[in-house]
Amino acid sequence: MTDEVAPGIIRKLWSGETGRFRDHLLRLDTESRRFRFGSAVSPEFIERYASRVFRTGAIVHGCFVDGELRAAAELYPMGDVLPGEAEAAFSVETEYQNHGLGTLLLDRVILSARNRGIRSLFMSCLAHNRRMQQIARKYDAELKFEHDEVTAELVAPFPTALSLAQEAAADAQGMAGAVLQAQRLATGRLLDMFLPAATEPVLEPQ
Ligand SMILES: CC(C)(COP(=O)(O)OP(=O)(O)OC[C@H]1O[C@@H](n2cnc3c(N)ncnc32)[C@H](O)[C@@H]1OP(=O)(O)O)[C@@H](O)C(=O)NCCC(=O)NCCS
Repeated sequence: MTDEVAPGIIRKLWSGETGRFRDHLLRLDTESRRFRFGSAVSPEFIERYASRVFRTGAIVHGCFVDGELRAAAELYPMGDVLPGEAEAAFSVETEYQNHGLGTLLLDRVILSARNRGIRSLFMSCLAHNRRMQQIARKYDAELKFEHDEVTAELVAPFPTALSLAQEAAADAQGMAGAVLQAQRLATGRLLDMFLPAATEPVLEPQ
């Protein structure tokens, strides 16, 4: 790991946040986009992809640093009724890579999968994506190499009262963080509105 990056807030994204998700994906550099989607993709593709993400039933966790979405993890349960399998995909913006955010997000993804009775979690990446394979290995994933692609399968443990409580606590913490962030933003805007006026020289009456 290189310099520390404050992990900020990790929380589930709401369906009204497709714009933030899209902007995050658009900020990925060319190589990261290729790693994320398995091939080069255009901004138009990303636009369409992001607009559909919540319609697929995906659970998307985001990592916010200074109020900006810098990393995301998508969990796609496979099948409509009581899915036992799911697929996960990760994206961390270039300047934030290798600071532990991908690992933190995988932790959350496993917790969410586990609490939904999902036992098998699949992650696909290009064969030379060593970083993704390394974070999968940390969770004892079984890696299968095929041509230019690697599929990692890891088994999520069964849910327990504690794992359910952990997800509820993480959701509450994420919500509190989002509210604080919104307050900070609103306060900043108010200060921007009033401070310039306050710092203007006061003209003495003649
Ligand atoms: C892959 C990705 C999600 C990982 O997230 P991250 O925040 O960068 O990863 P982390 O910092 O949590 O962990 C990276 C690990 O890889 C290791 N690593 C870094 N470069 C490596 C390399 N070339 N070879 C092997 N391991 C490497 C790090 O040492 C670290 O392991 P450690 O914690 O045991 O030291 C992120 O880099 C990313 O979004 N890349 C572009 C998109 C992508 O590849 N998505 C995955 C396919 S869906």
